[in-house]
This record gives sequence, structure tokens and C-alpha cells, in this order.
Amino acid sequence: MRIDVVTIFPEYLEPLNVSLVGKARVRGTLDVRVHDLREWTHDRHNTVDDTPYGGGPGMVMKPDVWGEALDAVAASGEGEGAPALVVPTPSGRSFTQELAVELAAKPWLVFAPARYEGIDRRVIDDYATRWEVHEVSIGDYVLAGGEAAVLVITEAVARLLPGVLGNAESHRDDSFAPGAMADLLEGPVYTKPPVWRERGIPEVLLSGHHGRIARWRRDEAFRRTAAHRPDLIERCDPAAFDKHDRAL
Ligand code: ADE
Repeated sequence: MRIDVVTIFPEYLEPLNVSLVGKARVRGTLDVRVHDLREWTHDRHNTVDDTPYGGGPGMVMKPDVWGEALDAVAASGEGEGAPALVVPTPSGRSFTQELAVELAAKPWLVFAPARYEGIDRRVIDDYATRWEVHEVSIGDYVLAGGEAAVLVITEAVARLLPGVLGNAESHRDDSFAPGAMADLLEGPVYTKPPVWRERGIPEVLLSGHHGRIARWRRDEAFRRTAAHRPDLIERCDPAAFDKHDRAL
């Protein structure tokens, strides 16, 4: 997969060299290119923003600069087809595991993280006539810019790419992964030593009884979900739990 990020803070994307995403880049699974938006300015001050039409506080990112930048990035991938444009914004569609799966299936993503009050609307409207465009919010809070959202979305997408996670089974029990545990958060996990600060681990995990262990994990997941995300419990399908238990 190829990912381009156009930003006024290229150094903000340095974490993409680290850990899982960094390794995927070294292996060649992920081709990440970070561009400085100011490369496409033509004035002495490298201006990327201007005052909003209609008045109001803050500044708006200029359409001409973004247009040149996105055209140049697209031209650099000639023959690869149109990329999907991802615009992080608090007024976008919620970023979910489902959207991560959808984006992980694309060959090429271009991120356009904004600073200030956002990007002139005409940019999104123009590219939407030729490219797939996703305006995405990573949560109900307002960040100073979209770069942190690019890091979040890229990590969630990269770990879904074939060969990126060491153990393909690691996806299976992810909170929010599809399956019988769909819509449940993951329960607690334990490792050695068996006693730490006088705290043991749940007996059932030592039983070697896979069915009982699976059932216990499901119950714990249910308890945690009820405590932290009651909204998810309402979406649960009781028939999926019955099926899960019959399979044990
Ligand atoms: N930019 C500012 N806040 C954001 C959010 N919550 N999600 C995505 N992009 C943003």
C-alpha cells in the first residue's frame, strides 16, 4: 500500500518511522511519503492560509496551494489509478474498525491534514468529482490539527495489511473485530509470574480446558463492555453468543 501525507508539519509524522508502521516501511509492505505543503506556495512567506469569507475567527487553508500539492502527488503515481483522499476533520464520519478495514483494502491513500479552521471546501468538492474522498473524525474532541489523526488512522490501517502483524490470529479477538465476539471489548489478560504482589490469576486460565477458558473470556468481555460501553451491549446479537457457546 502507498500512503502520501501532505502537511505543514512533516516532522509531526516522524513516528511513522517507528514500530509496526516503521517496520512495514522497511519491509516494503508500506510505501509512506511525507510532503511539505509549503513546497507548493509561491510567495516569500510561503503562505498556506487566508482570512475566511464571511468573517469569523481563525484562518482557512488556501485552495490553490492544496490543489497544486494534491495534483503533484497524484501525478507522481501515474499509472497507479486515483488515490483515495482522506481528510481528517472533527466534522467527518467516525473512524471505526470497519472504516479501517475498508481503507486497508485501498492500494493508495493520500492524507490531507488541516491546521487552522480547515481547508477551503472547494478542495474537497473538486477532488470528490474524481477521487474517493473520506472525511474522517477520530473522536468527539477537537485537535489542533489533523496530523495526530493521520498517525492514528495509519496505524490502525497498517496493522491490517497482510504480513504486518507477526501472528495473523492477533486480529481475531481484537475489540471490534467481526465474529461471535463482535461488539464486545477485550477482557483482561495475564502472563507470568503466576503470583505478583500477592495477586494470583484466575484459576480457569490454568485449567487447560479450552471451552471453559473461551466461555470465561467471553463473560469477562461482556462485563467490561457493560461497564465501559453500555451502548455496545445494545447492539449485541444474543444468537451469536449461543452459537459461540455451542461451538465450545
Ligand atoms: N482535526 C481536529 N480534530 C480532529 C478529530 N477529532 N478527528 C480528526 N481530525 C481532527
